[in-house]
Amino acid sequence: MDLKYQVVTFGCQMNEHDSEVLAGMMESLGYTHTDDINECDAIIINTCCVRESAENKILGYIGNLKRLKRINPRLIIAVGGCMVQQQGAGEKLKKRASHVDIIFGTHNMYRLPQFINEVRHGGQILEIVDEECEIPEALPIKRQGKIKAQISIMYGCNNFCTYCIVPYVRGRERSLAPETIKNEFIALGNEGYQEVMLLGQNVNSYGQDFDYAFDFADLLKTLDETGKISRIRYMTSHPRDFSKKLIDTIYECESVCEHFHLPIQSGSNRILKFMNRGYTREFYLSLIEEIRKKFSYHSLTTDIIVGFPGETEQDFKDTLELFKEVEFDAAYTFLYSTRSGTPAAKMPDQVASEVKKERLQQLMEVQNAISLRINQRLVGKFEEILVEGTSKTSERTMTGRTRTNKIVNFPGEMDLAGKIIPVKITKAKTWHLEGEIIDQMKKN
Ligand code: SAH
Ligand code: SF4
Ligand code: F3S
Repeated sequence: MDLKYQVVTFGCQMNEHDSEVLAGMMESLGYTHTDDINECDAIIINTCCVRESAENKILGYIGNLKRLKRINPRLIIAVGGCMVQQQGAGEKLKKRASHVDIIFGTHNMYRLPQFINEVRHGGQILEIVDEECEIPEALPIKRQGKIKAQISIMYGCNNFCTYCIVPYVRGRERSLAPETIKNEFIALGNEGYQEVMLLGQNVNSYGQDFDYAFDFADLLKTLDETGKISRIRYMTSHPRDFSKKLIDTIYECESVCEHFHLPIQSGSNRILKFMNRGYTREFYLSLIEEIRKKFSYHSLTTDIIVGFPGETEQDFKDTLELFKEVEFDAAYTFLYSTRSGTPAAKMPDQVASEVKKERLQQLMEVQNAISLRINQRLVGKFEEILVEGTSKTSERTMTGRTRTNKIVNFPGEMDLAGKIIPVKITKAKTWHLEGEIIDQMKKN
């Protein structure tokens, strides 16, 4: 009988990418993907624990699967990834959710095929290892899309920002060899991909674990020189390590997009220090200035945490002021969430939930107005769009992105998908743009 599976992903793009490997491994076992959860023989859940809200959502989701397991006792449920890798979380999950068959962490996810084969004959597996392993090469992969692809260039994080759980669940930084990345990149180009996203928690420290000198800028240059892919993106880059050399390299490399995502996290020096971010507000501002001097066409986005322990009204004002001064194209705003095991969890002066929410609201209002204003400046201009497919709302509306990562929706036909075309911007919204293709393009 045909075995069906689904991989359900929570969390960041790195998790999305790991899930492509999990899916690849399931297919190599002979399973095929289904969109209908009710007909699954195996459900793999790849988890996140960066904020409490993520964990609650996942626990709710796992709880709901009990019903499916009752209907089909042969259904295999596997839960792995960051949430499970936390200290003691595997045992807790095992007790709490006895309908879960396999529990695994981040460092042993490549063992999924063995786990599946074992529990096919019954039993339960709980395996979490503390040690980062060698990154196994040549794992099977089932990519989500045909136009954009992702490559993990490094795993783990050494930064230990005091609020963040990632270094504890993802281990120390390990970079993939440039040759390995280059080969994958070229292969993607040969398969017709137009865009590649290079992934790491802090791509700027790529290569620091090599015994030879080769950094992220060198990698970008190497990949750009292949001429295989029209657009290269990367995520995430830490402002502290964003070097002059990197700015120059991005400028020189035609395929590297002019989108700078530089998470600031707070506009207050006091809070940045408590966060262990390793830069000041002034450093950040001078970095932005440097980028803006060099790039007339670019976009700038950020991540921000509101309500970090000890954040006073003044600290928050510093953040607001910084937002008004910098004018980000967009910001991902988060309420500080206590992560047990991190230094910030034990810091004094935790901010009350209502205060945090009120501040977040205020910041979002300021940012939304700025985003809209920046987008309005684009009306009437032409943007180069990589068309990704039909929009969520209508079959006749196509959607794509600018090099600066802005979403543009426009009337068009499906055969444009995967093409890079000029689109005239006709309308600006806070989160996206609307446009139209010129007549000549429509005919071709
Ligand atoms: N490595 C990336 C980000 C990884 S997590 C970087 O350093 O930029 C993505 C975002 O989640 C972070 O930028 C931060 O804004 C947010 N985040 C991380 N831990 C958090 C916490 N405990 N509470 C709230 N937001 C958090
Ligand atoms: Fe977390 Fe900081 Fe590492 Fe990003 S750089 S993953 S925020 S510890
Ligand atoms: Fe979440 Fe793990 Fe990513 S904690 S944000 S899925 S690295």
